[in-house]
Amino acid sequence: MSSNLAFLNLFKTRKKIPMLSKPAQTSEALHPLIQNRWSPRAFSSKPVGDTQLRRIFESARWAPSSSNEQPWRFIIGFLGDQTYIKIFSILVEFNQLWAGTAPVLMLGIAKKTSSKNPERQNKSAVYDLGQALAYLTFQAMADDLFVHQMGGFDAAKAAELFQLPADHEVITVSAIGYIGDPDILSPNFKKMELDQRYRQPIDEMVFTDTFGQPAPFLTSAG
Ligand SMILES: Cc1cc2nc3c(=O)[nH]c(=O)nc-3n(C[C@H](O)[C@H](O)[C@H](O)COP(=O)(O)O)c2cc1C
Repeated sequence: MSSNLAFLNLFKTRKKIPMLSKPAQTSEALHPLIQNRWSPRAFSSKPVGDTQLRRIFESARWAPSSSNEQPWRFIIGFLGDQTYIKIFSILVEFNQLWAGTAPVLMLGIAKKTSSKNPERQNKSAVYDLGQALAYLTFQAMADDLFVHQMGGFDAAKAAELFQLPADHEVITVSAIGYIGDPDILSPNFKKMELDQRYRQPIDEMVFTDTFGQPAPFLTSAG
């Protein structure tokens, strides 16, 4: 077989990498977007389309917020551009070891004063940013995009590099993109990628009457 033909053959038979799926193990079936969401570390570098990007930020825009303050702001970088390089530079080493293949890195920023009354702190700002990020995450999932949030980064360096106003703070960095092949990860990260997901039992978080009393509906037959 000529080397050209061998190459073509290889191309045809190249292993298609199945998307790693880690559905939540639940007592009740959930909406597929919730059941199937997880935080991958192996991202394919396939770019995210402008339509998908507009969709995810439009969804963030429609999250609820205290006094409708909408205190969320985002800075987004694309693999290879200057913003991406700056975002990558603020990550702790643990995150730099896996996040650099994601096509998108994004800062989630909270505006911590009220826009209606700038003297007043908005104590819901971080909470509301979290809600906007949850909206964004599930809308992304509807387009097969995954979001992995990170708290491991240097917030002071971020504020300086991105010239944030004093009442703004970077709360999370997110990697966004399509799931990649776990084989691109180092052995430790690959193990974490394939590990089971864990959650605390439901009766340790939903109470009735007094704190710590599990709600009866959690274990009823109906
Ligand atoms: C605010 C926040 C900070 C996080 N920080 C990191 C991080 O620095 N590095 C990392 O690899 N994962 C980070 N994660 C991901 C969590 O570890 C992950 O969501 C959790 O283990 C549950 O796994 P799941 O999202 O796959 O269900 C963070 C998640 C959130 C929401």
